[in-house]
Amino acid sequence: MDELLLMNGPNLGILGRREPQLYGTDTLADIENTVSEEVSDREWKVRSFQHDGEGELVRMIQDSYDTVGAIINPGALMIAGWSLRDALANYPRPWIEVHLSNVWARERFRHESVLAPLASGVIVGLGSLGYRLAARALLAIADG
Ligand code: DQA
Repeated sequence: MDELLLMNGPNLGILGRREPQLYGTDTLADIENTVSEEVSDREWKVRSFQHDGEGELVRMIQDSYDTVGAIINPGALMIAGWSLRDALANYPRPWIEVHLSNVWARERFRHESVLAPLASGVIVGLGSLGYRLAARALLAIADG
């Protein structure tokens, strides 16, 4: 069965309890279920991975070249996650960068992502809906 990588970086394992006014009340499990539901008709399975460490995320990307695409919320690694960026440069499938909050409406240090230039697309500010939309985008890209 084809698998879609759903990867979340530092501080996203506590979604639901983390600054809900910014990130909403959905947990990571809720998001995993949403994405799974979205891709189930295509019989894609979701390979979900969350880690607070950049090295573990890099390793996961290296181990996921067999996936059909990826949805990635890098958290604060968007700002200076250079090794994550290099790992993604060699990821052979389309991937979408997602941020729950509208990073451009926040502090200046969040306004640039070192990863975004490599992404097929970027979705920000739509909360957990962003993950659902990213899944839909990857399905459409796969359809060509
Ligand atoms: C975030 C935005 C980042 O700037 C922040 O460091 C996060 C969450 C988001 O989903 O809105 O950890 O990626």
